[in-house]
Amino acid sequence: MRLAKFLAHAGVASRRAAEEIVREGRVTLGGDIVTDPAREADGSLEVRVDGKPVRAPEERAVWLVNKPPGVVSTAKDTHGRRTIVQLVHAPGTRLYPVGRLDADTTGLILLTDDGDLANRLTHPRYEVPKTYIAEVEHGPVRESSLRRLREGVELDDGVTAPAGARQIRAGVLELTLREGRKRQIKRMCAAIGHPVKKLSRVAFGPLRLGDLGEGHVRRLSPAEVQRLRDAAAPPAREPG
Ligand code: URA
Repeated sequence: MRLAKFLAHAGVASRRAAEEIVREGRVTLGGDIVTDPAREADGSLEVRVDGKPVRAPEERAVWLVNKPPGVVSTAKDTHGRRTIVQLVHAPGTRLYPVGRLDADTTGLILLTDDGDLANRLTHPRYEVPKTYIAEVEHGPVRESSLRRLREGVELDDGVTAPAGARQIRAGVLELTLREGRKRQIKRMCAAIGHPVKKLSRVAFGPLRLGDLGEGHVRRLSPAEVQRLRDAAAPPAREPG
């Protein structure tokens, strides 16, 4: 594997940022400074960035699931309900949901055994966009109300960050959030007088649900996992 890819997979930075880090002479391979991002790093020689050892990236699995209603998105449920983890057959792999969807929300949720990636994808700092389709009561929604959703709605835990909001057809909204508070879409829509009847997530960062059927799952390709890592990679200049 090329050195830049090795660093990106290890979660050091995005691929492009990793190339930059290498060119800057901050990376050593087996103790020698390497400035060519295409140098082979097969794990046999220790890699360090700014003197700090980098753990070799293992083959991590990320699954995309189209969550049906009634399935909970925690790894375990104390009430014996069906969990999202049970939908994926991956023997020997301990999978964790990336963030949460309410039990009655359907759509795109990711599962992974890469705890570090899962944490970064849900950390507010990286602002990974998530897109939802919400069917609301009392449609159509006025433009002035859509503007409130875009500019920020006062909720009991503070004003929401700028969001994408458009009406696809009367009473059906496409909303894109870069934060992920509990029941946020439902609370935002209720705050503008249009409670949610039905909610589905259709995109998470660079990934779209596409035509994957409800209850179906698919494992992401290495290229898709890389795009996901890039969406939640620390900036190049920040060590660690
Ligand atoms: N917002 C909600 O209100 N519920 C979800 O499940 C996800 C986002």
